[in-house]
Amino acid sequence: MLEGLQRLEYRGYDSAGVAVVAAKALKIRKVKGRVADLASVVPARFKGTLGIGHTRWATHGVPSDVNAHPHPSADERIAVVHNGIIENADSLRQRLEADGVTFLSETDTEVLAHLIGRTAKETESLEEAVRRALKLVVGTYGIAVIDAERPGEVVVARNGSPIVLGIGEKEMFAASDVAALVRYTRQVVHLEDGELAVLRADGFSTFTSDARETAKEPFTVDWDTGHYDTGGYEHYLLKEISEQPDTVGRTLRGRIDDRFHIAHLGGLNMDARESRSFKRVKIIGCGSAYYSGQIGAQLIEELARIPADAEPASEFRYRSPVVEADTLYIAISQSGETYDTLAAVQELKRKGGRVLGIVNTVGSAIARECDGGVYLHAGPEVSVASTKAFTSTSAAFALLALHLGRVRDLSPADGRRICDGLRRLPEQIKEMLTQEEHIRELAMRYAKDAAGMMFVGRVRGYPVAREGAQKLKEISYVHAEAYPASELKHGPLALIGPEMPTVAIVPDDELLDKNLTTLGEIRARSGRILMVGHRTADQADDCIVVPRNETELDPILLTIPLQLFAYHAAVALGRDVDKPRNLAKSVTVE
Ligand code: G6P
Repeated sequence: MLEGLQRLEYRGYDSAGVAVVAAKALKIRKVKGRVADLASVVPARFKGTLGIGHTRWATHGVPSDVNAHPHPSADERIAVVHNGIIENADSLRQRLEADGVTFLSETDTEVLAHLIGRTAKETESLEEAVRRALKLVVGTYGIAVIDAERPGEVVVARNGSPIVLGIGEKEMFAASDVAALVRYTRQVVHLEDGELAVLRADGFSTFTSDARETAKEPFTVDWDTGHYDTGGYEHYLLKEISEQPDTVGRTLRGRIDDRFHIAHLGGLNMDARESRSFKRVKIIGCGSAYYSGQIGAQLIEELARIPADAEPASEFRYRSPVVEADTLYIAISQSGETYDTLAAVQELKRKGGRVLGIVNTVGSAIARECDGGVYLHAGPEVSVASTKAFTSTSAAFALLALHLGRVRDLSPADGRRICDGLRRLPEQIKEMLTQEEHIRELAMRYAKDAAGMMFVGRVRGYPVAREGAQKLKEISYVHAEAYPASELKHGPLALIGPEMPTVAIVPDDELLDKNLTTLGEIRARSGRILMVGHRTADQADDCIVVPRNETELDPILLTIPLQLFAYHAAVALGRDVDKPRNLAKSVTVE
């Protein structure tokens, strides 16, 4: 369990705990801190035939020993681990307290432990106790429950937070991510929302919330433990940055047709007629996925001439969007489990929207929910800050834009140009990575002591600037702000001075002169400038020169130096690069 938790640590890492059943009694150990801290307090003789464990990303209650999961019921018979948020926890808590229950923690999860604990006394099975307790609950959950009186089974249930079962030989597993299971089995079953499962050493059964048994087909995951190692790199982040020639190559493999200069995307489940029918494209995602969606929107407008834009999934779902039959909706997610994105997809489906997914994790909730899509094949991304998923998503968008363009107006010559450009990408990413030492030196000079940094770009360069600022702030904690270069003069120029350097994204495109004028304006206010583009320029103090590709594909290559820049700034500042404070890799709560 400790090893499984370590593999899941990127999902949350402020506290951790385990519980086992041995001789009809519960044993629980939990601590504030990392899984390594937990391992140091779990005694060698902490044995049982089944158990549950958890690594937490706090929602209700500060990270502390007592708020860590598992949470026991009052009689210490039941223990629960929970991902998600119980929305009516306060009212349930009041009712339980009025009935004499004493709460130990500030968490919403403890409510579940007490509810299940009480019902377990009256029901024949643990499964029935869990089912009844969940009927009282409003919110999202992925839970695992054990009962000291029934030492042969674990009950798990899902509503909005992922649960995957792993099928072993005379042993069974369940986790919130296959990462925890792949060392033991690659045969897995994903639970759907509303489903509950009972696991025993020799098998499992799955049920709907009204106790009807469901039949589930296991599937084999491609990823194994090797994918989850640092591969000799100091951090997952550097490994994942360095993998990009290969991961972008895998996203493109088998999908470029050099004869007709088109893209083959069989997973779209869409014929040419349907591909031609859309009048608009709307892209949704969170964090870096949203920024890669902005790159995608730009590619689709340029190559397919369909109006396209991107929006944070969380905003989209809450503003009651008009869902149109002739709009193609695209959801982006590395994990395929981000709750805001999943909920937005479900809202779209409810309203009849046609939704494609650009997803890395095969079989994940968002992939299952969408009508079709493109898998990235980038392998698992472990570091909290996204890098290879970002570039693979951008490459997948280039394929999709090529596909949509070639069934519309895009000429064979332009199709060929993009196909050739895409083929050159992996090699050019490799070339870009050779500048790591130069970029490290620039990160030390610019970011290490900066009060903050400005990232600017125009049109294709703007999402690159946003992602660059995001990378820097999330892993180095240096404040970074991204602006369209043209907007600088409408406000943020007031911040520019020697202590606020600027990273300017300046590709050699039709906006080169305008960008150079902006650099002149920054210079005139004593601002230092690091330019990322295809040439050097006198207006900049330093330059990173990126290999040229086709203009439309520039954002992908321009992103790479910004990843290295953020990485080396974070290392120089002594940050926990792979697990930045307060964050989590996949956010399965709202
Ligand atoms: C979290 C991560 C980000 C990621 C975002 C979306 O905030 O820290 O790195 O971009 O979630 O994740 P997804 O798995 O949906 O791409």
